[in-house]
Amino acid sequence: MTPKVSLEDIDLSFPGAEGTKVIYDKFNLAIEEGSFTVLLGPSGCGKSTLLNIINGLLEPTAAKGIVIDGEDLRNKPDLSRQMAYVFQGPRLLRWKTLAQNAEFGLRGLGVQPRATWPALIEKYFTAVGLRDSMHQYPHQVSGGMRQRAAIVRAWVNEPQILLMDEPFSHLDEITAAEMRRLLIKLWQSEEKRRTIVFVTHDISEAAQLATDIVMLTPASSSICLRRKVDLPWPRRMEDDAVIDLEKELRHAFAERAGISF
Ligand SMILES: Nc1ncnc2c1ncn2[C@@H]1O[C@H](COP(=O)(O)OP(=O)(O)OP(=O)(O)O)[C@@H](O)[C@H]1O
Ligand SMILES: [Mg+2]
Repeated sequence: MTPKVSLEDIDLSFPGAEGTKVIYDKFNLAIEEGSFTVLLGPSGCGKSTLLNIINGLLEPTAAKGIVIDGEDLRNKPDLSRQMAYVFQGPRLLRWKTLAQNAEFGLRGLGVQPRATWPALIEKYFTAVGLRDSMHQYPHQVSGGMRQRAAIVRAWVNEPQILLMDEPFSHLDEITAAEMRRLLIKLWQSEEKRRTIVFVTHDISEAAQLATDIVMLTPASSSICLRRKVDLPWPRRMEDDAVIDLEKELRHAFAERAGISF
């Protein structure tokens, strides 16, 4: 099977005060279509830069391939229009309502026909339980609601690939847990599942969400653990299987980093 995303021999380095900082050196990663792939790794290992490479925002120093659906993104930049991004903070425009922010997302990517926008906006705000609040401004709703609106802004594009960079890390634990449940529900509700690439440094979050876990070492980054997870949802933090998985991930990480928890 052709992977949805295939990174081949990626090199990335940045000039720094103490010489060149190597982030990736011949890094390879294949992401399966329809997977919920979680990239897990310590701060600074290169998770965000990897998402930026996948959607063409950042050109690596060298690469054999940045392949989406069998074609190299560098030869076909339009491939990035089947991807949408959800950032760490909601990044909503404060002078626009939540619905207008979603419309802004639709205009930005420009893949959905104009005539479908109102129905798409209504559909996905309803799906995340914000139907009644979509005409409010960001300052009139809670942080969790703002982040739900940020997910809608991406989701209305019905992207084949959803890139999510620590989208819940600024939320309190209860709200974050709700958001995870909601995201899984949204993702599962569609017949053809979207490919999600979700970045976190939270081991517990990875265990609750992933079908595929890719654990990265500190830079220069390599994959120190790659594993499929075949557990049903909803996964609760206190489920034995989830706890066991978390332990395995903590152990793998500690071993690699030479620390003990
Ligand atoms: N434009 C840049 N110029 C120089 N160095 C950069 C640039 N972008 C990223 N880096 C460096 O690359 C490394 C990886 O950055 P990246 O933001 O991908 O880390 P991360 O894994 O997402 O970390 P975090 O979990 O803290 O968000 C860091 O050391 C960072 O300082
Ligand atoms: Mg980051």
